[in-house]
Amino acid sequence: MLIDIRPVRRMRGADPLRVAGMLEPVVDALAASALDLSRVSVMCDWIQYRANFRAVADFRPVLAVPWRSAADFDGAGRGAPLDGERGAEAALEVALDLRRCAEADLPAIVGRLLAEHADPAVSDRVPLEPWGPASRSCIWQFNSLYWQALSLWEQSTGREYEQALPSGESDARNAEAARDLILELFKTWDDLDARGALPAELYVVELGVGNGGQARTWLDQFAALSAGHSTDYYRRLQYLMGDYSPHVLERARRAVAGHADHVTALVVDATHPAFSLGFLRGKAFLVYLSNVYDNLPSDEVARIGGRTYQVEVRAYLPAADACRVAQTVGAPAEQAPDLVSKLLRLGPALLCEALPQHFPDVDRAVAFWQEVWSAVHLQERYVPLEALDLYAVTADMTGELLRPLLDSAGDIRMHVSNGALSSFAQTLPLLHPYGRLHCHDLFLADIRGYRSGFFGPGKYDGSVVNWINGPLLHRLGSRNGYDVRIAPFVARPSANVKTLSAQVRE
Ligand SMILES: C[S@@+](CC[C@H](N)C(=O)[O-])C[C@H]1O[C@@H](n2cnc3c(N)ncnc32)[C@H](O)[C@@H]1O
Repeated sequence: MLIDIRPVRRMRGADPLRVAGMLEPVVDALAASALDLSRVSVMCDWIQYRANFRAVADFRPVLAVPWRSAADFDGAGRGAPLDGERGAEAALEVALDLRRCAEADLPAIVGRLLAEHADPAVSDRVPLEPWGPASRSCIWQFNSLYWQALSLWEQSTGREYEQALPSGESDARNAEAARDLILELFKTWDDLDARGALPAELYVVELGVGNGGQARTWLDQFAALSAGHSTDYYRRLQYLMGDYSPHVLERARRAVAGHADHVTALVVDATHPAFSLGFLRGKAFLVYLSNVYDNLPSDEVARIGGRTYQVEVRAYLPAADACRVAQTVGAPAEQAPDLVSKLLRLGPALLCEALPQHFPDVDRAVAFWQEVWSAVHLQERYVPLEALDLYAVTADMTGELLRPLLDSAGDIRMHVSNGALSSFAQTLPLLHPYGRLHCHDLFLADIRGYRSGFFGPGKYDGSVVNWINGPLLHRLGSRNGYDVRIAPFVARPSANVKTLSAQVRE
């Protein structure tokens, strides 16, 4: 039996984690079971996000062959259903969240997991979806709903989304960092101007605008610096704000009302910016994002015993929670998945119109949404990925991009950052030859970091947070002739948030 402890830093220091004591009841319970222990591993994490998708302990089957039951088959061509009660299991991973082990009744929990493993019919999970890659999970519909109906969520909690960030506000509002970036732009423009090569319109794009705080800080700084500069760049500035939530865009537009003549708000899907911003090809001097890539859908892949697997997930509610949330709206427990699916399709306001017997007003629908969200968990399993080139990272990119990283790191589990890669790949061509992409986010600069930490998904209020696989973005950019750098965020060098910049290689 293999025991893998990831949060190794916590095993030392003034108050070290007593891992052996936590493992003992788990190992004893496994030893007393009929499992083939030579094929069992125990994976210990420290899930730093208090709101997350993991149970304190869970089983993750490592399947021998790609497998789906008829119930899992979604009809969209994702693998054919195979016969049989369940997929043959090559191994079993037992997942533990060490942060919560001390307060948990581990023998009882592992006992229930063993019973479910022996007979899936005794499961106390209520699935909300079929198994599939994490990027297609309904957690992303929850994420999108959060941004589409942000004000309803905030009215109910009484706090703004920024307050859920670890520092209480977005780093994007840091004036000093904005100033440095603007002065670098001025330098580029001065040089182009001196050669008579500066276009009349100076395009700057921001994707994922939130409450507009970032745009306001940036535009205020820009106007002030331009006023003191020899050329009035502010007059020529075209600031495009893109977001997939019209509600968020409207809020951001109000925040920058003082700069209205220079700002255009556009509905843009950040995972496919080329769709709506294609007209900017080769024209954008700056594409600016903050805390957006970590909010875009991502799969995970793993190397286990030298073989490559995709981590498949299935969102579920623990049966007790399904029963409770359904009861609060006067519905039987078995109706919970259907109510959740209608919530995700319609949003809280329309849900009241569609099902007034359960949701007499919007407050009731929002409360249901929040209760469901806090109870949503992800069950996980590993499904063999037979050929990396058959795995679509994005519509235009195969899993071959992952190979050098997977081949270099031994057994590892990592994010694919599909949404961020798609966004990045479609944004680079929008840049002017002297333009740059500038991005503040939770980047992992070295994939070896995955061996000793947990990097999502977690929940920030109603949204999802996942760190981004920096080396993958680096590889994609380099391969297309861009110089990609990931550096500490200058205004807060010790922060988890880092700055990625990309520009055409000189
Ligand atoms: C965490 S907020 C960051 C807001 C702001 N940039 C900041 O740093 O404070 C994420 C923003 O990205 C937007 N967003 C998330 N997914 C998106 C997508 N696929 N397309 C466009 N915008 C998206 C959300 O609507 C939200 O405005």
